Amino acid sequence: MVDVSRRSAGVLCQSRDLLDGGKGIRFTVRHQGKALPAFLIRYRGRPHAYLNQCAHQSVELDWNEGDFFDREGELLICATHGARYCPETGACAGGRCNGRGLVRLEVVETGSQVCLAERDGVHLLDVETQGQPSR
Ligand code: FES
Repeated sequence: MVDVSRRSAGVLCQSRDLLDGGKGIRFTVRHQGKALPAFLIRYRGRPHAYLNQCAHQSVELDWNEGDFFDREGELLICATHGARYCPETGACAGGRCNGRGLVRLEVVETGSQVCLAERDGVHLLDVETQGQPSR
């Protein structure tokens, strides 16, 4: 069961809870007037966030909640048909995304927290507490 809690000021997680190449944090944003699923991962030391929508079909990418990386921990992978995306940019890295990338969300890491940059019609609605990093 997913425990969903509302956070304030765009805070997605504590920095220590977002491990490099590990599980992602799932959250919901209001984006262009719609409530949409999104996720946050850390790759090579930096946090990155995207809408959780594959460019092939509009489905969530993770194969288990919060699992976005491939086995090697180098690319994001869609569980449905295996499209791969660059963790640093969201660009298509092969498969059925056919050159289309993920929709990137701006995040900032300040002090001990990772926060969504809430502007340009993007606002944080909820953060799931399940799917915390485990590796
Ligand atoms: S839905 Fe993601 S690769 Fe087809």
